Amino acid sequence: MDIDAWYINSSDEDQRKPHRLEPNKPVSLDELEKLGVFYRKLDADIYESDPELEKICKDQGYTYMDIITINKDALPNYEEKLKMFFEEHLHMDDEIRYILDGRAYFDVRDKEDRWIRIAMSKGDLITLPSGIYHRFTLDETNYTKAMRLFVGEPVWKAYNRPADDLEIRKKYLDSLH
Ligand code: LAC
Ligand code: NI
Repeated sequence: MDIDAWYINSSDEDQRKPHRLEPNKPVSLDELEKLGVFYRKLDADIYESDPELEKICKDQGYTYMDIITINKDALPNYEEKLKMFFEEHLHMDDEIRYILDGRAYFDVRDKEDRWIRIAMSKGDLITLPSGIYHRFTLDETNYTKAMRLFVGEPVWKAYNRPADDLEIRKKYLDSLH
């Protein structure tokens, strides 16, 4: 399975730019899985009746789903929300996103606290484990449509870093050993 992920530079130019190192320092699916990040590719054209997606939901217990469109016209409080999404944070639950259209970046911290940027586009499904520090941004195309999946009633609360004293953070760190 193909994934485009890489270590980013720390320049504070536009967050929507790729921020690749020179030379590029790619990150493999394997490395991401060691951080508890899971990725797979589905056929987003048939998401409304996709047996593969249905199976994932059944196996993982995803009982909730909604669809969020992120662009200037579709999302109320667009600028404010984007700013919030790009604040480094964690959640008590897994963050599961399935990109139905457009593009976006998820950034996650590796074990040495370096940022890895994961390029997501149509058909990409990603799971970020509870307790991992992460953030989200649109890329320069400024548009994405994503399905949000959840086990049970969704909880969107984000704990901005520092959240190191939270039990879920300790649990996540323990899972890395
Ligand atoms: C979220 C993404 C933006 O928490 O990380 O919805
Ligand atoms: Ni999040």
